[in-house]
Amino acid sequence: MALDQEKLNKVLHQGINDFGATFHAACVIIGDKLGLYKGLAAGGAQTPAELAKRTGTTERYVREWLASQAAGGYITLDAATGRFSLSEEQAFTLADEKSPAFLPGAFQVALAATKAVPKLIEAFRTGEGMGWHEHDHELFHGTERFFRPGYAAHLVSEWIPALTGVEARLKEGGRVADVGCGHGASTVLMAQAYPKSTFVGFDYHEGSIHTARERAAESGVADRVKFEVAKAKDFPGTGYDLVTFFDCLHDMGDPVGAAKHVRGALAPEGVWMIVEPFANDRLEDNLNPIGRVFYSASTLLCTPASLDQEVGLALGAQAGEARMRKVVTSGGFSQFRRATETPFNLIYEARP
Ligand SMILES: C[S@@+](CC[C@H](N)C(=O)[O-])C[C@H]1O[C@@H](n2cnc3c(N)ncnc32)[C@H](O)[C@@H]1O
Repeated sequence: MALDQEKLNKVLHQGINDFGATFHAACVIIGDKLGLYKGLAAGGAQTPAELAKRTGTTERYVREWLASQAAGGYITLDAATGRFSLSEEQAFTLADEKSPAFLPGAFQVALAATKAVPKLIEAFRTGEGMGWHEHDHELFHGTERFFRPGYAAHLVSEWIPALTGVEARLKEGGRVADVGCGHGASTVLMAQAYPKSTFVGFDYHEGSIHTARERAAESGVADRVKFEVAKAKDFPGTGYDLVTFFDCLHDMGDPVGAAKHVRGALAPEGVWMIVEPFANDRLEDNLNPIGRVFYSASTLLCTPASLDQEVGLALGAQAGEARMRKVVTSGGFSQFRRATETPFNLIYEARP
């Protein structure tokens, strides 16, 4: 065996980073759930004892947790005073739920997904799927907290204006179906922005629809938003001005079947907006940190979700524009284009 020491060190370096990150993910969730980040943001530089007192936790645990966070660059230590604090940037990403860069929701998704590992090991052998609804409930809450800040930052200000004629229609009063809506973060944001329009969110997962109804009531938009349990291939209603799919088309077993159904449900001038994870068409062009997040999430969540449903096309979370175009045009749409994008999302527009 002739190991190249430099190449070996590179793999080990990556491995140690990831090994630490795996433990770190659990520590982030502990800090998030106990309000440790928010306590630091609110109280400024604190000793472990002060933070423990502020958050109703135990000093010995908090001291160890703070050390782990300082080692990971998530918290700043002032070695001279023994106090820990959050920089503006650390507070923006860890303590501010409304920030577009809020991170704890992402860790909540990742940790919830790992609970499926025993089942997925079996699924790799049998080829069976695992439905979205079968996962730990933290997944549904984490997804909402992870995606909502991005939707709040881009959906109304950039994505809808990038579609043909949609913003004007929604301002006047249009009809919108938000399919695969989960907890309804996107539906509620649109309802808040366009009070003259009416919205119905559909998802096949009953638990998510239940929570989405609570969100509509809490946000004061229940007069113009309804949430119903329905699948993408059979949701009710026709003549919609806009049908939206946020980060869910690739999760479906039969996205072509869904496309055909959407085509039949749209008004003649209606638009189908499809929001998907950012991806290049070729695998080799996705081998970067964002591609790693999406391919890993896709292995644990999206691919098994699709394999659990009829057809089981299993597009994966990195399907890319060319594959999506094929799905959408096979569903009978004559026009398909990339309307806009962010580093994390591709926003497609399809028209009949
Ligand atoms: C990754 S989550 C996205 C949820 C939500 N759109 C968001 O952006 O926060 C995917 C959602 O698609 C839903 N879903 C999967 N297959 C579906 C189907 N065939 N019909 C309707 N909803 C489906 C799941 O229940 C889940 O809520």
